[in-house]
Amino acid sequence: MITLDYSNKVVLITGAGGGMGRLAAEKFAEAGASLALSDINYDNLKSLQDTLPVECFIGQCNVANPEEIERFTEQAYQHFGRIDVAINNAGILHPQNKLADIAIDDIDSQLTINGRGVFLSMKYELQKMQQQGSGVILNMSSAAGIFGAPGASAYAAAKHAVTGMTRSAGLEYARYGIRVNCLCPSFIDSPMVDEFDKNSSVKKDRLAAANPMKRLGTMDEVVNTMLWVCSDYNSYMNGQAIAIDGGLTAL
Ligand SMILES: NC(=O)c1ccc[n+]([C@@H]2O[C@H](COP(=O)([O-])OP(=O)(O)OC[C@H]3O[C@@H](n4cnc5c(N)ncnc54)[C@H](O)[C@@H]3O)[C@@H](O)[C@H]2O)c1
Repeated sequence: MITLDYSNKVVLITGAGGGMGRLAAEKFAEAGASLALSDINYDNLKSLQDTLPVECFIGQCNVANPEEIERFTEQAYQHFGRIDVAINNAGILHPQNKLADIAIDDIDSQLTINGRGVFLSMKYELQKMQQQGSGVILNMSSAAGIFGAPGASAYAAAKHAVTGMTRSAGLEYARYGIRVNCLCPSFIDSPMVDEFDKNSSVKKDRLAAANPMKRLGTMDEVVNTMLWVCSDYNSYMNGQAIAIDGGLTAL
């Protein structure tokens, strides 16, 4: 039987205060990992830390802020002496609109948080991983990072950037024992999509109907994939954009 054992691993997760990042923290903890968790929302992180049965270093950190990201990565590295796995998960959505109607603030925040946030996270993580001679990075892209997303072109722009950075870094760092991949989920039943459902004329049932499997994905399905993708059982996958989308992008 295969068991995913992270008991000798340090796993860093951004955006760990809520949604899939929080569930990832819980499941990696169940698998024995020591955790370095960041989020812009400190209270959510603290309440999570109090429930976790493993050593857990937390830091409030806005992924759009280079100083905060550099400091958190350095502190996590000093605390544990290594970073084996980094999951760059923090991200935001913007209100649904056709491109000409998207606010300029929305394209700016998409590129800054979803795009540059992943770049900055990888920049400092890769420096540490190169020093230690190994590491695994998993970025959260999206189905919108590999195909068009009507109503979400700014989000798609930022997520395509994540996919492009992932493939490029995967090629650059393979020789240093570092694997870099990204996950590309379609709509997942998470707090982000609850918010979308509340504020958009397109409701969850319509999103579900548009998927070949006629349902949304679950947060468990995404996090279970993270556990496997980042594990030693998956040691030859590198530079890939991994769709987890009920087959949506196979169309
Ligand atoms: N839910 C989906 O359908 C879906 C699909 C594809 C990809 N994704 C991506 O997966 C990731 C997680 O999504 P989710 O559904 O769990 O979202 P969520 O909104 O439930 O959680 C996102 C977390 O990121 C944190 N965050 C937001 N901005 C931040 C910032 N600037 N710095 C640090 N932390 C910040 C939030 O506080 C929150 O804890 C995101 O990158 C998202 O784009 C989600």
